[in-house]
Amino acid sequence: MSHSRTAASSILATLISAALTACCVAAASAVRAQAPGAASPPTSTDTFDAQVARGQDEYLNACAACHSSDLSGGEIGPPLLGRLFNAKWKDKSAKELYELTRDTMPQGAPNTLTTAAYIDIVALMIKSNEYKVSAPVTEENAGGVVLAP
Ligand code: HEC
Repeated sequence: MSHSRTAASSILATLISAALTACCVAAASAVRAQAPGAASPPTSTDTFDAQVARGQDEYLNACAACHSSDLSGGEIGPPLLGRLFNAKWKDKSAKELYELTRDTMPQGAPNTLTTAAYIDIVALMIKSNEYKVSAPVTEENAGGVVLAP
């Protein structure tokens, strides 16, 4: 009886310590994901890289036909990276890029993607232009995300 109670409490102690470890790892990465000075910290455990990966899928579906699969531009659409794009977008905000994209793209069918998909594609454009970002872009914080290396 006393032996099995000891075994049970040792299992319990192991479970509690595993739960605490998982909890603290999650809390630590949540803290890292917050941008200094971001208008509103992301509420989920999303990461910028996960966002870029989703943006890549959305982009291939909705944008690559005109802008090419690597954003370098096609016969119809201009490049979404490089010198010309930078001349236009550097030091503007992710929010401005998001709003222009939402309001005009895909050309001929603007505002037909979800907000999340547009934001994820903006993250892809940020990554492709090597602009610096320290947290996932959200509709709320996009105004404070400056497009700069
Ligand atoms: C049917 C072809 C077509 C599709 C599909 C398309 N675009 Fe475009 N895109 C264009 C053209 C053409 C322009 C130039 C428009 C202009 O200058 O008025 C443009 C311009 C842009 C610009 C502005 C570039 C700059 O230099 O400022 C962005 C950003 C953009 N597209 C993003 C996207 C995204 C993101 C998607 C997918 C959601 C997309 N486009 C889908 C044809 C397309």
